[in-house]
Amino acid sequence: MQHSTGYIIGFAAAVCLVASLFVAGSAVGLKDLQEANKRLDVQKKVLTVAGLMDADAGLSADEVNALYTESIQPKAIDLKTGAPAPSVDVASYDQRKATKGDGTSFVAPENASKILRLPNEVVVFDIVQDGELKGLILPIEGYGLWGFLYGYLALEPDARTIRGITFYDHGETPGLGGEVDNPRWKALWPGRLAFDDRGKPAITVKKGIAGSVENDPYQVDGLSGATITSRGVTNLVRFWLGDDGFGPYLDKYRESAG
Ligand SMILES: Cc1cc2nc3c(=O)[nH]c(=O)nc-3n(C[C@H](O)[C@H](O)[C@H](O)COP(=O)(O)O)c2cc1C
Repeated sequence: MQHSTGYIIGFAAAVCLVASLFVAGSAVGLKDLQEANKRLDVQKKVLTVAGLMDADAGLSADEVNALYTESIQPKAIDLKTGAPAPSVDVASYDQRKATKGDGTSFVAPENASKILRLPNEVVVFDIVQDGELKGLILPIEGYGLWGFLYGYLALEPDARTIRGITFYDHGETPGLGGEVDNPRWKALWPGRLAFDDRGKPAITVKKGIAGSVENDPYQVDGLSGATITSRGVTNLVRFWLGDDGFGPYLDKYRESAG
């Protein structure tokens, strides 16, 4: 059967319209589910870096949520001053989006992590169990080799000893820079010291193998074949621990902890 050109174009347009309505409908219909999955993902990352959950534990969404609600207290802070920012809704705050907005971010001082803008407010987390503070969790990000790495750094209540680190989003090469999310490498971090005796950020991902936590507290093994990513991790961790990152918040925390 022969069809006219007009018929073929009209038929193709109708197919496109039906398909686009289906895609748009699915996107809108699944939005709540996507948001819930995003929240669950953040909860898992935070619990993992806190050392309260094994990444492969296979807990259900309800179990993750229960553990999170029981032991993690998110709170928004003003990055420049470190003071609380109670107007921010911590459950829905999107730091990456805020970092791009004119009214919600500011130009970053020059830095080795290629961070161009900083959000006015940041959500940090207290780890609290049985009413006792067990640690602090800080979001971290910065440039590696191919792009930005996003993660969390957890500190012990002394705000100096590292409790854990995790990177959940990056574009580094699997097997090279991508080893930032290898549990064996992440296991080298707990117990190391983020700051030296004078309170300056000192933790370094060195080229080569570091000593034990006791003998070499400021250094972590470099990722083999990935010196650039390793340097990127040093830069970004030091940036966020420094005066232009969480310095003001950590100073306030230390003052109140006496
Ligand atoms: C395909 C390809 C992917 C690479 N990916 C990474 C990477 O993710 N991170 C990194 O630091 N270096 C990566 N490198 C290596 C860097 O170009 C550079 O040689 C390396 O960082 C130097 O580290 P080394 O002194 O430990 O060898 C990659 C190289 C190639 C060819």
